Amino acid sequence: MAITEALCDEMRQLAALYPQSRSALLPMLHLVQSAEGEVSIDGINACAEVLGITSAEVTAVSTFYTMYKRKQVGKHHIGVCINTLCGLLGGDAVYAALSERLGVGHDQPSADGEFWLERIECQAACTHAPVMTVDWEFMDDVTPATAVDIVDRLARGEVVESTRGPIIRDFAATAHTLAFPNDGLADQGSSVDDKMLAGLMIAKERGMSAPSAPAPAAPTSQTEG
Ligand code: FES
Repeated sequence: MAITEALCDEMRQLAALYPQSRSALLPMLHLVQSAEGEVSIDGINACAEVLGITSAEVTAVSTFYTMYKRKQVGKHHIGVCINTLCGLLGGDAVYAALSERLGVGHDQPSADGEFWLERIECQAACTHAPVMTVDWEFMDDVTPATAVDIVDRLARGEVVESTRGPIIRDFAATAHTLAFPNDGLADQGSSVDDKMLAGLMIAKERGMSAPSAPAPAAPTSQTEG
């Protein structure tokens, strides 16, 4: 897919948001993924041109962060957290079931181009471990069976809702929201629930509080010798 002038306009809008235009590179790479389905060579060159930096610099950034893909992701990105808590509570089994269902391993697209499977790191959602993401929306407390069912429903084109509320769109749509988080969609759904607040509630009931932070150390004078 060619990089259109409309996409370059959106890139320039992002670049104009920052005192240093190159600070816009991360959202610009999400924008490229939303249009191209991957961080394509054309997208890299367009970012470099808009920001006045080299394609090598753009490539260096895009290959450092795992959210940027250099192959077609397909319609839906499926992430399975395999960090400590999720792994211990069943994340490894969830990943194995999805790997079998989709016929792919880590960081690979399915043969039909509909799904991309990835083992992901902690999503700061450990309260609801094991956690799976679909196009970066949370699916909390999944099991191997419910995870495969989510993929089956997406494959049938059914409407699927994140356990936190938002309707699953697709990878490209999420990538556009990541580029422009003020689109009114970024904070849909609930980000906190009773389970997440349980520790805080118990601490309040028991009158517990965190120890105050130590006072900063006084500056030491240095003698020259
Ligand atoms: S370990 Fe999976 S969300 Fe934290």
